[in-house]
Amino acid sequence: MEPKLLQILRSKGGNAPEQELLKELACTRDMLLNAMANLNGHGYKITLENQKWELVQEPDTPFPWEFPGRQNTIHYLPVTTSTMDVARQLAKEGCPHLAVAVADRQTRGRGRMDRRWASDHGGLYFTMVLRPDLPPSDGFRFTFLASVVLADLLKKLCRIDVGVKWPNDLITGQGKLAGILSEMHTTSGNIDFLNIGIGINVNNTPTGLETRAVSVKMLTGRKFSRTALLREFLDRFEKELHGSNDFNDVISRWKKLAHSLNRQVKIVTRNKIVEGFAHDVDEHGSLVVRLADGTISKVRHGDCFHV
Ligand code: BTN
Repeated sequence: MEPKLLQILRSKGGNAPEQELLKELACTRDMLLNAMANLNGHGYKITLENQKWELVQEPDTPFPWEFPGRQNTIHYLPVTTSTMDVARQLAKEGCPHLAVAVADRQTRGRGRMDRRWASDHGGLYFTMVLRPDLPPSDGFRFTFLASVVLADLLKKLCRIDVGVKWPNDLITGQGKLAGILSEMHTTSGNIDFLNIGIGINVNNTPTGLETRAVSVKMLTGRKFSRTALLREFLDRFEKELHGSNDFNDVISRWKKLAHSLNRQVKIVTRNKIVEGFAHDVDEHGSLVVRLADGTISKVRHGDCFHV
């Protein structure tokens, strides 16, 4: 009942006669009062005056009911170790494709290459469970898709000039804005689940662990709704998942956003360092680097530094 109730309260702009609410929700007054008490207990402020209900204040918390149509697949936690842990558990228990674990804070947020991801209050931290019908070697496609969808969204919604840095960082001239981490589990050569974790510095002030990190608030001087960002991201990502399935199109969009191409780079992998001129990303998501001796090296995983 909460999603519909909130939708009506928002559409009435603070002027929702109780009789209308009871009629539209087809419920008893007790049921209505229970729903109001539930929302007020979760940080909303809904008041009644002269038989009219008003939504005076609402928290920016990604409660499941804030995602109409996804209510049963959003798993919100005020605090957790890492949404990657929660999503893995959900996936192992058989949750559906596109289930999401989202947290306000993480005590052990993880980044790529075994780094920590600072996860203070105000950022958006979530992991999606995907169950694609593709061979594991194509799993990387979804992180590229997530990067371009997120970059487009931040450009449009927050008016930030954001680009991508290979493989999946979202960066601006002032520093890193968001990071993406994926974890795959395969059974008998098929993807069982592919979890994509995204951390976006939204209203927080990232410090310490991430070098040169910035947030949406630091860049724009204003706060943005994390809930609205997540809602819009999931809608766009899902739409694209069910779209044309043309990965070449995703890669060409990624290239248009890329900060890591046509420049000198240093790639640090777990066991080697590759230095050269990055001039392309191939159909496997590998960075194509021309080395000083003219040979071509294709790097699949690693940390990219602009030199
Ligand atoms: C990186 O740039 O190194 C990737 C960072 C990914 C961070 C997100 S926050 C949500 C999810 N939970 C985690 O512990 N990590 C990812």
